[in-house]
Amino acid sequence: MGIRPVEGALARIEELRELIRHHNELYHTLDSPQIPNADFDTMVVELRDLEAANPDLAVHGSPTSDVGGRTLNTFDEVTHTLPMRSLDNAFDLDELRAWAERVTKRLGEVPPAWVCELKFDGLAVSLRYEDGLMVQAATRGDGRNGEDVTANVATIAEIPSALAAGAPPVLEVRGEVYMSKSTFTELNRVREEADEKPFANPRNTAAGSLRQKDPAVTATRDLSFWAYQVGEVVGDGGGTEPTTHHETLRWLGDLGLPVNDRAIRLTDFDDVVTHVLAVEASRHDLDYEIDGVVVKVDDLAIQEELGSTARAPRWAIAYKLPPEERTTRLLEIEVSIGPGGQATPFARLEPVFVGGSTVAAATLHNADQVGIKDVRPGDTVIVRKAGDVIPEVLGPVLSERPEDSVPWEFPTSCPVCGSRLVRPEGEAATFCTDFSCPRQVRGRIEHFASRGAMDIDGFGEARVDLFVTEGLMADVGDIYSLDFDRIAEFDGFGETSVQNLRDAITRSRQRPLGRLLFALRLPHVGTTVADQLAQAFGSVGRLEDACVEEIEAVEGLGPVIASSVHDWMHSKPNAGLLERLRAAGIDPEASVSKTEDAPQVLEGMAVVVTGTLDEMGRDEAKEAITSRGGRSPGSVSAKTTALVVGAGGGSKLARAKQLGVPVLDEAAFARLLETGKLPGQ
Ligand code: IVH
Repeated sequence: MGIRPVEGALARIEELRELIRHHNELYHTLDSPQIPNADFDTMVVELRDLEAANPDLAVHGSPTSDVGGRTLNTFDEVTHTLPMRSLDNAFDLDELRAWAERVTKRLGEVPPAWVCELKFDGLAVSLRYEDGLMVQAATRGDGRNGEDVTANVATIAEIPSALAAGAPPVLEVRGEVYMSKSTFTELNRVREEADEKPFANPRNTAAGSLRQKDPAVTATRDLSFWAYQVGEVVGDGGGTEPTTHHETLRWLGDLGLPVNDRAIRLTDFDDVVTHVLAVEASRHDLDYEIDGVVVKVDDLAIQEELGSTARAPRWAIAYKLPPEERTTRLLEIEVSIGPGGQATPFARLEPVFVGGSTVAAATLHNADQVGIKDVRPGDTVIVRKAGDVIPEVLGPVLSERPEDSVPWEFPTSCPVCGSRLVRPEGEAATFCTDFSCPRQVRGRIEHFASRGAMDIDGFGEARVDLFVTEGLMADVGDIYSLDFDRIAEFDGFGETSVQNLRDAITRSRQRPLGRLLFALRLPHVGTTVADQLAQAFGSVGRLEDACVEEIEAVEGLGPVIASSVHDWMHSKPNAGLLERLRAAGIDPEASVSKTEDAPQVLEGMAVVVTGTLDEMGRDEAKEAITSRGGRSPGSVSAKTTALVVGAGGGSKLARAKQLGVPVLDEAAFARLLETGKLPGQ
């Protein structure tokens, strides 16, 4: 028997698999990644480690064993004669050395010679030459099937349509199509002049350019190519065939293909490590993006002996470079006002390309952070993208600080409404004090209508903006007395969309008390505290009547939250708002202390609810589960005890069937709530 997975491991493994598949798809198939590659790699490493520690949970089809990227159906499909494999990654020098040791061990402790190449950040393609002429070019796709991009590749000047003498009758060349940094910069300069949105980064631009439906567009993009591998070879060209990888590279160069001159053959692995570090230090000197160094076993016969897994060859590894840091000028420190009135300082930067995209602004979080980092307008600062997509200013380069530089001071008035900015004692954040600041008004309404709150479909940022600007709303209370006749006159509001909005607002009237309290955006009140308050007091009115001590008596709530809730309830505009909501019929009741009363028959169970139930709302159903000791997660996994399906529950049902999770209708659910038993038990 394998190791029993810890409770959290399975959930995390499933989450990571989902995330990796999603980002893989964005990166490989749609050419529009949302996170830096380094973050993606971090997820893969975490998943790999978790799967290694929980072998029971390793499944066929996990993204750790797949090559990313499926094909889109816009080009003809090409089946690769030899699969286009991916590369395993080493994220630090220990992993790199461990790989070399594994290889050496497999070879009976005789270390091979190595070739180090740059890992180009572009798009892998396979070029097929027959009798020296290029007859086909294909993307990697899923490694077995790619897209036929022959017409587009034919426009790339660097790729010869005919090879020099000496090519075998069939030769498949594999390499990377990329866009140089200088081409990318120039392309974006021209686009900006023409008022067109600039491209995000060279890699995606290269991929997008190669997959243009019209090859004439590809032709204008000045793409480049590095050859680094051969695929199928049939026959010979009459000369001496290469027997090593470095000879192969030279041979490809002699045939007229572009081969990068930074490839280097080394016999001592310590030199490989030194080389890798040297590349890391000089990556910015190159006119093309790289994201690592590929180390390959040089001897082709030894490569053959080592072989490949389904995903990647054993004879090569990609050492991934760590997240990038760049310097740029901090032009100005400005303050943005958040939906809750929070004033957040952020740095306006001279645009700099870092970690895969151009960064022109970065948050500085709060006044203390600006002080701790000691960044000032005019400073040269170090910028990094790590951990998530959010760029970070690490600090100033003090040696470059202008002589007349002065520390930045937090502004005293709100940049939106001009009211006073105040930093409450003991808090890190600063706030705009004007309740009617337009940014706050819009923010409160957006939050009220958002998914986890009152969940009003079709009440997004743009519409809130429109309704507030047109004077239809000044606070959330106005949602329930909207003038739909006027809305029907606005552009883009047909009969159906007005009716949909009306229906969505009507549906929101049924949200339980916890959701309403969360929607009202009391300081420090997230969904958990909102639910606790709802269970403890049962109605807005009773919470309004409670004194600070009574609120503080609720388990889990401390004096800060208690007095903040109390103050909020008793501020004049809020009390008025609650009154108006009540008058509009928004006054939900929650059953107090249900938790203690209900028999805990669902302890240890995870019951997911999907679709619309006849007898109770989704939130009510979830409350019924949690109040009986169960959990009600938002998605189905192998750990789910049962899935309750109401009308319209589609994708979760399919997942439950796939995983063999019992599916319950409302009657079976009612029985489960009463007895804790599943059908057939
Ligand atoms: S060799 C069977 N060499 O990295 C091994 N790949 O992460 C084939 N890449 O799909 C790949 N530079 O798109 C190789 N010098 C290089 C490379 C390189 C970039 C890309 C290639 C591959 C991906 C794997």
